[in-house]
Amino acid sequence: MRIVKTIAEVRNQVKAWREQGLTIGLVPTMGYLHEGHASLIEASHRDNDKTIVSDFVNPMQFAPTEDLASYPRDLELDSKIVEEYGGDLIFNPEPEEMYHKNFSSFVDMTVLTQELCGLSRPTHFRGVCTVVTKLFHIVKPDRAYFGKKDAQQLAVIRHMVDDLNIDIEIIGCPIVREPDGLAKSSRNIYLSESERKSALILSKSIFLGMDMIKKGETDCNIIIQAMKKLIHTEEFAKIDYVKIVDCETMQQIEKIDRPALCAIAVYIGKTRLIDNFFTEDI
Ligand code: PAF
Repeated sequence: MRIVKTIAEVRNQVKAWREQGLTIGLVPTMGYLHEGHASLIEASHRDNDKTIVSDFVNPMQFAPTEDLASYPRDLELDSKIVEEYGGDLIFNPEPEEMYHKNFSSFVDMTVLTQELCGLSRPTHFRGVCTVVTKLFHIVKPDRAYFGKKDAQQLAVIRHMVDDLNIDIEIIGCPIVREPDGLAKSSRNIYLSESERKSALILSKSIFLGMDMIKKGETDCNIIIQAMKKLIHTEEFAKIDYVKIVDCETMQQIEKIDRPALCAIAVYIGKTRLIDNFFTEDI
């Protein structure tokens, strides 16, 4: 397993693999890998001859008020995980390698990004779409793997690939949870011991919503109110949003009468966590 820092090194390796007729999977990450990322690497290793993991904390997707400087980084840990789960190459560029000083082209999606996380993070998806497009051009993979935990991101990327005729298969992989239910996230590291306990309110409300739908509830407002009521019982929790949207358009719906996404974002102290479920996965 190699770690490279430059775009030229990735391109040379990809060229050599392509000359041998090998297929390539890409797992885009911001590093500080956990079991959620490991499941993406494992899936790529299963589907492709070679797997490239990009490990880059992308400054463009953080607003000035967000946690870019404190975002956790640990390349040594990441390389162990990539190796263990079958990755072949880590691409770990410096920001200057990805964005030269005259950088001025962006990929901006106007529809799916106006809802959910896009409301409280208005420039986030422009940063994600731009860096993912660059990674797609650098690696030119056959397939790329994204976690369903970032459900809106997955929908945005699928839409972008379709809009821009990018010939890469996008694979969405299930959320990986801690044994007590908390969705794995690099940001869980920010939680104090007591906040870690409070953070369980996210998965508890997700399971409540799933259960209500399983029992036949179809009124989104009733489901959302019940989930919000549960979250409000936790004193450290502050709701950003609890919403049920159409899977494709990300627009809010009133009834569960089509494939839907129930997504939540909740602050636990200063840490903003997200969780969700797709009705088709219940
Ligand atoms: O999901 C993430 O970790 C990031 O948004 C991504 C897709 C690697 C782009 O920086």
